[in-house]
Amino acid sequence: MRLFIAIELPDHYKKALGELRTAIPGARWVAAEQIHLTLAFLGEVDEDTSKRLIARLAKIKAAGFELCLTGTGCFPDRRRPRVVWVGVKPEPGLTQLAEMVRETVVACGIPQEERPFSPHLTIARLKIPASRELGVFLDQHTSVDLPTFAVKEFILFQSKLSQQGALHIPVRSFPLARHESAT
Ligand code: 2AM
Repeated sequence: MRLFIAIELPDHYKKALGELRTAIPGARWVAAEQIHLTLAFLGEVDEDTSKRLIARLAKIKAAGFELCLTGTGCFPDRRRPRVVWVGVKPEPGLTQLAEMVRETVVACGIPQEERPFSPHLTIARLKIPASRELGVFLDQHTSVDLPTFAVKEFILFQSKLSQQGALHIPVRSFPLARHESAT
């Protein structure tokens, strides 16, 4: 199974993010319902390893936190944009959760990139680096004003590739401990 671990967003959030869609040549916009915050990408994982992984993920003790958006940006840079994203504030709760998740994944023998965690919501991927049009979009969306929301769980997803694109199927959700201001 092709797996990844992510935070799911409330429906109204996904809808609002989907409305950022605009005309950028060569952009493949992520379907609103598929926008998520990736904590770790695992790739192909066998059945045995996924069982061990689920058992270990269930032992993670982390507190819930508030997720807060920043502005838009792109990877790797504005001159050669490939991925367009909405940034997520690196709250200590989020950073700690991502670290715990990644350590757990590595402990199950699944390698992780050395790159530091850079929390983001991918909203589009660019086939051609339309840097001029993208530059206009980024300048228009230096902040994305959506209220914060309380993150109460993280989810192990299976990604099934199909002709219509990837289908994200929740495999298991893992609750986070109560956060004082969580509603
Ligand atoms: P990102 O676009 O949010 O950064 C599910 O496929 C998620 O896993 C994607 O949203 C993507 O995260 C991440 N992902 C997919 N393929 C990947 C790869 N080869 N390396 C790293 N992350 C990947």
